[in-house]
Amino acid sequence: MHKIKLLLAILTLTAPSVILQAEDIDFATQIYPFVKSGCVSCHSPPYADERGRTRRPKADIILATKEGILNSVDENDEKILVPGEPDKSRMLQVTKLPIYDDMHFPPEGKAPQWTDAEKELFSKWIASGADFGDWTEDPTPREGLEWDGIEKKAGTLETFE
Ligand code: HEC
Repeated sequence: MHKIKLLLAILTLTAPSVILQAEDIDFATQIYPFVKSGCVSCHSPPYADERGRTRRPKADIILATKEGILNSVDENDEKILVPGEPDKSRMLQVTKLPIYDDMHFPPEGKAPQWTDAEKELFSKWIASGADFGDWTEDPTPREGLEWDGIEKKAGTLETFE
């Protein structure tokens, strides 16, 4: 009897806080800013560059829209984001590969790297079900980028075609 009561007490104490923590992560204000600075220079929807040439997202992966994040696939045709499964979400895993790995993103020197705290937060957000809230897309994906791996590194562009 006592044991059951104790168990119930523990459950009531811990369960709400776990749920709260998950709901507390707001995609638009806490996650998207580092997705934008680290990834969107190469993974925005197609756009026309200064010479009017159409630039396509690298690997056809779009990270500036909810639809793109949920439906883009990696080279093995697997979804890059699997809600509830951080370990299966390539969008997180590529940021954790060693910096010298060809499949580490963002490539060194092309965009700001995610910090460990950002990777951790992104992992928690995926684990808690990847809730985007009201956010559906960045209406101005190429505005306000800290670094633009494509425009500023024109000399090394070919590596990323
Ligand atoms: C400077 C350009 C650039 C930036 C910045 C960049 N990527 Fe990429 N990304 C690429 C290119 C190019 C490929 C295709 C690589 C290939 O197929 O060899 C790619 C491929 C990928 C893939 C597919 C990997 C696979 O296994 O097929 C994922 C996932 C990815 N990027 C996620 C990200 C994330 C997340 C960020 C930000 C943290 C990011 N990228 C930032 C250029 C970039």
